[in-house]
Amino acid sequence: MPKITYIEANGTTHEVEAENGSTVMENAIRNDVPGIVAECGGACTCATCHVYVDDAWTDATGEPSAMEEDMLDFAYDVRPTSRLSCQIKVRDDLDGLVVHVPEKQG
Ligand code: FES
Repeated sequence: MPKITYIEANGTTHEVEAENGSTVMENAIRNDVPGIVAECGGACTCATCHVYVDDAWTDATGEPSAMEEDMLDFAYDVRPTSRLSCQIKVRDDLDGLVVHVPEKQG
């Protein structure tokens, strides 16, 4: 199973095993990673699952969709590597993915 590492704003890391087809958000919630709220449950309508994809992984995770871009406007401290974690699906080639959790959600 692919591994995902979440790094909190304070530097605490959480390494979890994720099933293919699940989302980066779902695995954060399942494993009690602090800082990912996911109010809408993955419907891309809340922006409280905001993460920063580690620079080494931005090519692999790809670009946000137009709908995701629109929702990201509501996130706190958006950066070029910002994504909504409910819109990143886990697959084998994301094994080792690292995402950074923002200081707070918008
Ligand atoms: S969980 Fe609401 S936008 Fe991702």
